Amino acid sequence: MPAAGWLAALDRKAQLRARAGLSRQLRPRPATDTAVDLAGNDYLGLARHPSVTAAAAQALSEYGLGATGSRLVRGSTDLHAALEADLAGWLGTEAALVYSSGYLANLGAVRALAQPRTVLISDAHNHASLVDGCRSAGAEIVVYPHCDLGAVTEALSSAAASGRPAVVITESVFSVDGDLAPLRELHTAARRHGALLLVDDAHALGVIGPAGAGGVAAAGLSGEPDVVVTATLSKALGGAGGVVAGPAVFIDHLVGTGRTFIYDTALPPAVVAGVRTALGLARAADDRRAELAARVRLLASLGASAAPAGGVVSLTAGSAQAAVDWAAACRERGVAVGCFRPPSTPDNQSRLRLTVNVGVPRADFEYALDVVAESRRG
Ligand SMILES: Cc1ncc(COP(=O)(O)O)c(C=O)c1O
Repeated sequence: MPAAGWLAALDRKAQLRARAGLSRQLRPRPATDTAVDLAGNDYLGLARHPSVTAAAAQALSEYGLGATGSRLVRGSTDLHAALEADLAGWLGTEAALVYSSGYLANLGAVRALAQPRTVLISDAHNHASLVDGCRSAGAEIVVYPHCDLGAVTEALSSAAASGRPAVVITESVFSVDGDLAPLRELHTAARRHGALLLVDDAHALGVIGPAGAGGVAAAGLSGEPDVVVTATLSKALGGAGGVVAGPAVFIDHLVGTGRTFIYDTALPPAVVAGVRTALGLARAADDRRAELAARVRLLASLGASAAPAGGVVSLTAGSAQAAVDWAAACRERGVAVGCFRPPSTPDNQSRLRLTVNVGVPRADFEYALDVVAESRRG
C-alpha cells in the first residue's frame, strides 16, 4: 500500500460513517459553559463543589501534578490508602483498590476473575469496558439477552454441568437506558451454581442505595464473599479514577498480578483528595438524591425507553440522523444532551441520553425539559 493509501482508506470509512449519520465530532467546551447539562455524569453536582476543589488544590500543592509512577514502583500515598478505606467502608466490602480509570478497573477485575476454563456470562447491554475485559480475558464468553434471568440460569447450569467456573457480569444501573439489573435474583442464581457475580456500580454509586452506597448495597448484597463490585469515581463523585471492591484476598491478588494496576501510573493525589471529599459529601447527600429522583421522573415523562433507576433516562429516536438533529436542536437552544448511536447503543437503536445533574438550578432544568420535548424530530 502506498504511504498515503491507509489514510485514504480511513477517509473512505469516515465518509461511510457520515452518510449513516454516525460521525463523531469533538465540540469545544469552555470553562464557563453556559449550556444546561443533561449530558454529563456529575449526578450530585459535586465536580465543582468548593470543598472538593479546595481539597484537590491543597493536595496539588503538596504532591504536585501527577503520581509520578505506579504505586508499586513509586510508593503509595496516604491519600490513596485513605480513599480505599473510605470506599470499602461505604461499599461494605473488606477491601478496595483504586485505579486510574473505571475502564481499567473493569478490565482488571474481569481478567482477574477469569481462569482458563471460566465461562464469563455477560449482559448484552454491558459497558464497553466490561466487554473489552471479557474479550481480553481469553475465556469463553456467553452474552445473554438484557436482564434475561432465564438465559443466565441456563448458562450457569451448562457451565456447572461441565465442572467449569462461571462469573455473571452486569451493570447495576445500565449506562444507556438507566434501568436496573435484577441483582438479587442474579446473585441467587450465581450462588446456587457456585458462580461469582461482578457488578459495575458506575451509575449507581452515590445515586441509589443506603447513603448512596450503590446498587449492590440497595440489593442487600454488600460484603457477600461471592460478589465483586467495580465503579468509576468520575460520575457522582465528580472526579476521575475507578475502584474494584471485594474480599481482601481478591484485592491482594489484583495488587500482585493485575496488569491494569501494576503497569499504570497511579491516580494523581490531587484527584484522590478531591474524590475523597466528594465521597464524604455524597454519603450525606440524601436531599440531593431526592431531588435527582424527582427530576428523573420528569424526564421519564417524555417517554423513557426503560424504567430509570438512577440519573439516566433514554428517549429513542427514529434513526441515527434523527438523534443527531434532535441533539443539535437542543444544543442550539442551550441544552447539552447525549446523542447515542451505534456502536454506543447495544440494540442498534439511536437515542437521546439525558442525565440529571442536581447542581443545575431547578428553573434551568425545567427549561431544558421543555426544550427536549419541543425539539423532538422523527
Ligand atoms: C458503566 C460504566 N462502566 C465503566 C465506565 C468507565 O469509567 P471511566 O470513565 O472512569 O473509565 C463507564 C463510563 O465512563 C461506564 O458508564
